[in-house]
Amino acid sequence: MSKINILVVGGGGREHAIIRALKKSAGIDKIYCAPGNAGIAADAECYPVKATDVEGMVALAEQLKPDCVFVAPDDPLVLGMVDAMNAKGFRAFGPNAKAAAIEGSKAFSKDLMKKYGIPTAAYEIFTDPAAAMEYIRRQNSFPTVIKADGLALGKGVVIAADLAEAEAAVNSMMNDKCFGASGDTIVVEEFLQGPEVSVLAFTDGKTVKPMVSSMDHKPAYDGNKGPNTGGMGTISPNPFYTDEVAERCRKEIFEPTVAAMSAEGRPFKGCLYFGLMITKDGPKVIEYNCRFGDPETQVVLPRLKTDLLDVINAVIDEKLDELDVQWDNGACACVILASGGYPGSYEKGKVISGLDADGQVDGATVYHAGTSGENGTYATNGGRVLGITANGADLDAAIDAAYAAAAKIDFEGKQFRTDIGRCVR
Ligand code: AMP
Ligand code: GLY
Repeated sequence: MSKINILVVGGGGREHAIIRALKKSAGIDKIYCAPGNAGIAADAECYPVKATDVEGMVALAEQLKPDCVFVAPDDPLVLGMVDAMNAKGFRAFGPNAKAAAIEGSKAFSKDLMKKYGIPTAAYEIFTDPAAAMEYIRRQNSFPTVIKADGLALGKGVVIAADLAEAEAAVNSMMNDKCFGASGDTIVVEEFLQGPEVSVLAFTDGKTVKPMVSSMDHKPAYDGNKGPNTGGMGTISPNPFYTDEVAERCRKEIFEPTVAAMSAEGRPFKGCLYFGLMITKDGPKVIEYNCRFGDPETQVVLPRLKTDLLDVINAVIDEKLDELDVQWDNGACACVILASGGYPGSYEKGKVISGLDADGQVDGATVYHAGTSGENGTYATNGGRVLGITANGADLDAAIDAAYAAAAKIDFEGKQFRTDIGRCVR
């Protein structure tokens, strides 16, 4: 069989992890990435097209003629990049716009769960700020959770401790339009409690194959304190995701969700991300994402034993039921090194020491999230800069190895959590 070329859309740590997994594939010749970053450039040919530039990306595909396009981030998926690629005859991995609505509209996903009996927090949807406030006052139950309907760079969820905080959130989303049109509609929902689990799953619209579980660490500082970030580190497996919980999730959440999307005429093909909370009443859905998580991917894909290209093809060709997807039994940990000040404002361009010419370090794999540079030198170029990732026989071994490697890397203002995977067990 002849080898294929693939274009990966995106430019963060998640895309670097996808590219590293693709590099191991026996069936791949060239890997292109747009826009990529300095570290990804050691593994793929990068082109400076923005991930959200659907037309520009189609033009790039027409120039490069890849055999497959892998669309990784949420915005281009919601904007219909897979539809646009398919329309030009390109094979593409990822949901089309109709299916990506599962992440693109929280109101849509909540109504889907209600209609199909999939466990989630109780909620109401509002398009009128006064009605939302009246409901919150009447409920008089705090904390309460307020979510912008549309994409909001991961910042569209507010956990309001009291009426004043709830009012401020409703105001800034609906009246001040802090997330633009994404806040025209909001969801007000019940506050759930329990450990959180991320489960990414391959699905071809009919069959769903959950990947190994993981745990994100969203708050910026140790002890789960400070503002929420895109994720400061991950571990896989998630210690709270027992076999019993996994079986309930499969029956009550994963299979019903995939069946529901198909029944709605929106078959989901790609990677469906289940953000779950294990409450005392059982697992419930906190959120769906229409894509691989970041930085969950960085600890999940290194445990994949099956050739990723085989999985991609099985998903696109709707033959996932025929493929045995295998995982290693060990563990994996990822520690994010971020710029000082993140997730608030931060400076860029700080020289990074401790990386070799390929942007790597002994004892771990370095997934570049936000780096610039050339000729084997690297500098910071984003909030999250590097994800230092190590496999191990168990979680302790993986976590220790990731931290040992992270200690070798430095840059001015380096900010990281010292308790990834340790704060919860
Ligand atoms: P998101 O930005 O959608 O990933 O949500 C951010 C975080 O808000 C989640 O990881 C949860 O920790 C929290 N969250 C969202 N919805 C709820 C809820 N109904 N109850 C408690 N926490 C929630
Ligand atoms: N790590 C959370 C996300 O990718 O949405």
